[in-house]
Amino acid sequence: MPFTLPTLKDAGDLKGKRVLLRLDLNVPIENGEVKDAYRITSSLPTVNTLVSAGAKVIIIAHLGKGKPEESLKPVATYLRDKLPIKFLPLRDPDTKQYIEKMRDGDVVMLENLRHSKGEEENNEDFAKYLASLAEAYINDAFAVSHRAHASVSAVATLLPAYAGPLFESEVKHLSQAFNPEHPFLFILGGAKISTKIPLLKKFVGIADHVLVGGASANNFYKAKGYEVGKSAIDADAMEGLEEYLKNPKLIIPSDIVVMEGSKEKKASEVAASETIVDIAEASVDAMKEYVLTSKLIVWNGPLGFYEKGFTGGSKRLVELILGSQAKTIVGGGDTVALLDSMGVTNKFSFVSTAGGAMLDFLANGTLPGIEALQR
Ligand code: 3PG
Repeated sequence: MPFTLPTLKDAGDLKGKRVLLRLDLNVPIENGEVKDAYRITSSLPTVNTLVSAGAKVIIIAHLGKGKPEESLKPVATYLRDKLPIKFLPLRDPDTKQYIEKMRDGDVVMLENLRHSKGEEENNEDFAKYLASLAEAYINDAFAVSHRAHASVSAVATLLPAYAGPLFESEVKHLSQAFNPEHPFLFILGGAKISTKIPLLKKFVGIADHVLVGGASANNFYKAKGYEVGKSAIDADAMEGLEEYLKNPKLIIPSDIVVMEGSKEKKASEVAASETIVDIAEASVDAMKEYVLTSKLIVWNGPLGFYEKGFTGGSKRLVELILGSQAKTIVGGGDTVALLDSMGVTNKFSFVSTAGGAMLDFLANGTLPGIEALQR
């Protein structure tokens, strides 16, 4: 690890101790059912370790934006098949009473943290309430540690605080990108290039090649003076792109797919009536040499309009990467869901549970949740 973090090894004997365990269980839920359990199954070993140690485990987590209807109950129900767990209201006299009576190895989960305004405000009183429930705090929610929220930041200063095993593992694996083996290929997909400029700036320095795909590439087509038709453009990020285009390390796909008729064509030949939605076969094939000679590949964000089902380019890239000997690190909710749908998640060296937190960590080398644990 590039820095020292207090971890479970430093926590000593947790038998009989009430432990507040922050997890990232922010998973897609449809009709009351968990649709992608990767974050849950990745968090389970930590819960089991604490249960085996005889701790009284109080799981706290958020879901969505904290709308009243966004409940963690389906997540608790999903977990109930794997371990006995009691689901409790977030802030209620009964919750406190129940927690006081927990036995060693018991597990409870509280309702969505974002149902309290204090969570996102990093409010001291809300953090004090959370801290009052336990004797130690473990952050195993790397994926939300880019948010300086009460359960990530303020609470860590009120209790003995430690990084959990999943958190440690995320930091260890993602840190390989700072001191990479070369050749190093960095692949940046998805939308909202405005939020990814610092990352791009950093990795055109560190990596040997940077492939930009997804809607993020559309801004570059526009900067080149191409017609982009009805394609998604991030209007906040048009400035300075010409400079990046001069950098030979930057790869912008030359061939794309348009939504209208799912046609493949040159990115320079898009009509005003068309919408760019994916990277074309020819552009993926052009990556072959880079992919097959890389020693490290880090990828975040799909290369096509994932929500509308344009996954062909990303799938082709997955197949190509699977043929390489590189260490492969992948993250971002949609990218991981894609690997899952192809049944290849375990063929990658490391699959991060994080999306935005992965990007922020890679861009800044730290996160508010890391800083809170170091205080
Ligand atoms: C995520 O899904 O990336 C994390 O859980 C953070 O969620 P947020 O973007 O709603 O803060």
